[in-house]
Amino acid sequence: MIPTEAATRFVGTATWEALSGNPVTNSVWDAVDRVNHVRLGHEADLIVVAPATADVLARAAAGLADDLLTGTLLMARGPVVMAPAMHTEMWQHAATRANVETLRDRGITVVEPASGRLTGADSGPGRLPEPADIFAAAMRAVGRSDGSGSLQGRRVTISVGGTREALDPVRFLGNRSSGKQGMALAEAALAQGAHVTLVLAHAEVSPPAGCDVVRVESALDLREAVLAELPTTDVLVMAAAVADYRPAEVMDAKIKKGDGADPVITLVRNPDVLRDAVLARAGRAEPLVIAGFAAETGDATADPLSHARAKLARKGCDFLVLNVVGSHLVFGQDTNEITILDARGTESAAIRGSKRTIADAVIAHAAGLLED
Ligand code: CTP
Repeated sequence: MIPTEAATRFVGTATWEALSGNPVTNSVWDAVDRVNHVRLGHEADLIVVAPATADVLARAAAGLADDLLTGTLLMARGPVVMAPAMHTEMWQHAATRANVETLRDRGITVVEPASGRLTGADSGPGRLPEPADIFAAAMRAVGRSDGSGSLQGRRVTISVGGTREALDPVRFLGNRSSGKQGMALAEAALAQGAHVTLVLAHAEVSPPAGCDVVRVESALDLREAVLAELPTTDVLVMAAAVADYRPAEVMDAKIKKGDGADPVITLVRNPDVLRDAVLARAGRAEPLVIAGFAAETGDATADPLSHARAKLARKGCDFLVLNVVGSHLVFGQDTNEITILDARGTESAAIRGSKRTIADAVIAHAAGLLED
């Protein structure tokens, strides 16, 4: 426990010492014979800075080492997780944004702050993340560094969210994908030690800390980004809701109401990104596992499972995650039910639970195929 000078104004040193059962200090001049910053930095399997103030983020980003905390951070060999807490204006300030980016570029996990009541009457983003979220981020960081994850050293690309197909400079055709399942997949892959790249179309939720993000708008952008990642990818999960069609023409200027006939929008087919990824894999020496998602209803011609089997064969991927869509929509909900259909002909039992439970099952299936 290394309370900063400011922390001891909120909670006194005596309390920190009594609670931790250890002497605490933030000075590099105490117990000089033990060279605390070197010892702590080297010995720590994980360093969690919570709360991380705007000041601590700035000092860590600048590489200062004028107290025990910043000195220890500079000596750290293990993963570092920072859980910011500050007023919204400070969190959103360009200086803090730049510091957070610098720290993330260096591999430090800076957890997104929660949004809500702050220390004054103000409220907004900047609230200390919930302890469970800090704990989860810490576990992911440790999982990445202890070499035990099933995807250790592997690169996973996940397409997430819903594409937007432009009609004119202000309008688009979109869909209701929330991106929640994709983000849960990213968390699950990170927890298994993977290096994760998100190809991120429009989503309602933020990506977890610790992944690379390539932002895309349309199906064509998404295709380009996915195919660019493919040569260095070991697992591709196509969780994005990719528009099957786009307007044939994108107007340069806003479409105005006129006195003439109502506009008619002609649509053209978008490429099938999943299928194109499977085709691009042909002839590759290193293994690449490719997975798709399918939300199916039954109809007069077939039940959802038969539709999904046909889709798996059509797409040519290694497995398909089937979501049976009933009267309740899966979009935006926090729980889900899936079946994994494998190209080798096996079908999992129904897997029910949170999007994270589903994600863990999907990532475990992909990791299993990679090992085969
Ligand atoms: N997909 C894709 N490119 C598209 C459409 C879909 O890569 N243009 C991917 C999705 O990311 C998903 C899978 O294909 O992983 C299945 O999506 P779905 O929309 O169910 O497939 P479609 O081929 O569009 O099937 P349908 O005929 O049922 O619309």
